[in-house]
Amino acid sequence: MFFFFFLVFTVCTSIVAEDFNGNIYHARNLDFGLFMGWDRQNKTWTLTEKLKPLVVNVNFQRGNKTVFKSTNFAGYVGILTGIRPGEFSLTMNERFNFDGGYVGILEWILGWRDGMWMGFLTRKVLENATSYEDAKDQLSLTKLLAPAYFILGGNRTGQGCVITRTRINTLDIWELDMKLGRWYVLETNYDHWEKPMIFDDRRTPAMKCMNQTTQANISLASIYDVLSTKPVLNKLTTYTSLMEVSTGSLESYIRDCPNPCTPW
Ligand SMILES: *[C@@H]1O[C@H](CO)[C@@H](O)[C@H](O)[C@H]1NC(C)=O
Ligand SMILES: *[C@@H]1O[C@H](CO)[C@@H](O)[C@H](O)[C@H]1NC(C)=O
Ligand SMILES: *[C@@H]1O[C@H](CO)[C@@H](O)[C@H](O)[C@H]1NC(C)=O
Ligand SMILES: *[C@@H]1O[C@H](CO)[C@@H](O)[C@H](O)[C@H]1NC(C)=O
Ligand SMILES: *[C@@H]1O[C@H](CO)[C@@H](O)[C@H](O)[C@H]1NC(C)=O
Ligand SMILES: *[C@@H]1O[C@H](CO)[C@@H](O)[C@H](O)[C@H]1NC(C)=O
Repeated sequence: MFFFFFLVFTVCTSIVAEDFNGNIYHARNLDFGLFMGWDRQNKTWTLTEKLKPLVVNVNFQRGNKTVFKSTNFAGYVGILTGIRPGEFSLTMNERFNFDGGYVGILEWILGWRDGMWMGFLTRKVLENATSYEDAKDQLSLTKLLAPAYFILGGNRTGQGCVITRTRINTLDIWELDMKLGRWYVLETNYDHWEKPMIFDDRRTPAMKCMNQTTQANISLASIYDVLSTKPVLNKLTTYTSLMEVSTGSLESYIRDCPNPCTPW
């Protein structure tokens, strides 16, 4: 299960946005199962369809108290989406980079590499970090097995960022900044300072949609609409999660992309 999941391409869209009152919203689409069997008759990805029934929300408790909540695939231990109520919310997007990826896994299996698997770091941070800043430090400083994007949200103004990681270093922390008019950060699977790949540009339509929504109208409901716009929503989209740290809410929706709809 562990390697199986790790070796499948995941493409995703994560957004953290702040409204005029300083409320922070964090949402994501998880697009899973690329290249794993296209069903021509039904126009679906076989693996994506198989995973949909396995999506579960889990409350992790300690001494009868909820420590964090997450959206998981049943049987999969790594965490891609989670929230610590009152403290922070966290999503992870895959960062394709040949420094890590398949070669990295092979090297790791052969014992040539150390570093933490990204899905375990998110779990550890959700279990043990106690604030937005603490989570940001742990996500920036821990040595990893492969590159990743960590998208983090907090509960007060300016607390939202995209952490761009190599295995060893943090290349960049792109944070909300109301003074600069940066009321949202949005990450798909490409470094935000570079153009997305032309055959997989979910960023431009998603940003266009956010810009049209405006900060005045941003809410979990309007972000859900942004994440329901094609091709941000596509045939790989397995679920959409909506989180708000100050209320502690995590809601997930299994998605279907009605035809016509792009494969990714
Ligand atoms: C295709 O869709 C039909 C009708 O919804 C369903 O019965 C069938 O199992 C699907 N095929 C696959 C391979 O999922
Ligand atoms: C947890 O809750 C149950 C029932 O409400 C109670 O009996 C038990 O003592 C509680 N355990 C702790 C560690 O608080
Ligand atoms: C943010 O969380 C902290 C710690 O839980 C809490 O004390 C504070 O009131 C929260 N702030 C807002 C704006 O919700
Ligand atoms: C969180 O911290 C506790 C206590 O230090 C430790 O036992 C536990 O293994 C940690 N959790 C993770 C996922 O590392
Ligand atoms: C959205 O607005 C931001 C900030 O004004 C701008 O930098 C960006 O180019 C816009 N993107 C799109 C796709 O409209
Ligand atoms: C903002 O929301 C209001 C009320 O929900 C709606 O009437 C208005 O059209 C929205 N504006 C935009 C730009 O979407």
